[in-house]
Amino acid sequence: MRKGSIAALLGLALIAGGVATAVALVPTWLPEAASQQAGRIAFTFWFVIAICIFIFAIVAAVMVYAVVKFRVREDDFEDGPPIHGHTGLEITWTIIPFVLVTSIAIVSAIVLSRNDAQAKDTLRVDVTAQQFEFTFSYPDAGNVTSPVLMLPKGRSVELYMRALDVIHSVFVPEFSVKEDIVPGLVTQLHVTPTRLGTFPLECTELCGLGHSLMRSQAVVMEPAAFNSWLKKQEKGAAPSTTTSTTSTTSSTTPISPAQAGLMVFNQNGCSACHTLSAANATGKVGPDLDNLVSYARTAKQPLESFVHQSIVDPDAYIQPGYSKGVMPTNFGQVLTKEQLDHLVTFLVQSAQKSGNK
Ligand code: CUA
Repeated sequence: MRKGSIAALLGLALIAGGVATAVALVPTWLPEAASQQAGRIAFTFWFVIAICIFIFAIVAAVMVYAVVKFRVREDDFEDGPPIHGHTGLEITWTIIPFVLVTSIAIVSAIVLSRNDAQAKDTLRVDVTAQQFEFTFSYPDAGNVTSPVLMLPKGRSVELYMRALDVIHSVFVPEFSVKEDIVPGLVTQLHVTPTRLGTFPLECTELCGLGHSLMRSQAVVMEPAAFNSWLKKQEKGAAPSTTTSTTSTTSSTTPISPAQAGLMVFNQNGCSACHTLSAANATGKVGPDLDNLVSYARTAKQPLESFVHQSIVDPDAYIQPGYSKGVMPTNFGQVLTKEQLDHLVTFLVQSAQKSGNK
């Protein structure tokens, strides 16, 4: 090979590699890491990207060089010379990819096993997924439940995840971890948060009409703040005979049944699917709860028993324009009788208010 050709190839490779490197580095492709796992995943990502840029530069250089240099001349009708393989070249282009792919496999295997390795004091969180909400509970703290995932910074956390209806998937981009939740299985996900903050937690498996609304948050707190949050929740959750069952503020002033109902509404993610002005809810999947009075009239039922039935047996009556089987059918079991009564009272009162407007 002549010196000029080598220089031309090298120049082309540098240009192609430079462009690819700029595309890789200039836009922000990954969210800022907020877990140990994310740091390792980012390392794997950049390791693979570097190899890709290296290969891309060689392929692009040889391709452009060949297209320009070996282009057929206008008056040339000859066949090219008969070439049958090149053993040296073939060995080279087999060995180099073999080494690269093997190195990716080794790096990935190490990262995966480290990412899944639990520490001794791993915190267990049970996750329940259903159309269209997540519930997080803390079995080591009297099964305190929360609609958002509260986590202490720097502690290894293992999520044990169950689905009540269809396949869901949990993903926190800043943690770089994701796992499907499959009915009939308990799937696990391990994460060690390293950064304080509130991060989006979303369902990433198309699970029905409300899939795009199936979002929550992961909140990473200082361990001391997390422990006091957990204690407060435990205290608030224990006396389930009082009005406020799972109030986050656990105040001592008694609240009205309608106010308690609003809390039940908010804690169970009803706003993801329903519009209700009394709760500032704007969901569009299910019926507009500001119109309950007219729905009850269409269903030819008294308002209160209509609301009650629609919660515990949602498929018994379907408002025209909406689909059967979208509303979870297990609220009758999930809510205590008291919570259910409060929710009904709240919905009836706010429906009467908006119905009178
Ligand atoms: Cu649950 Cu998408």
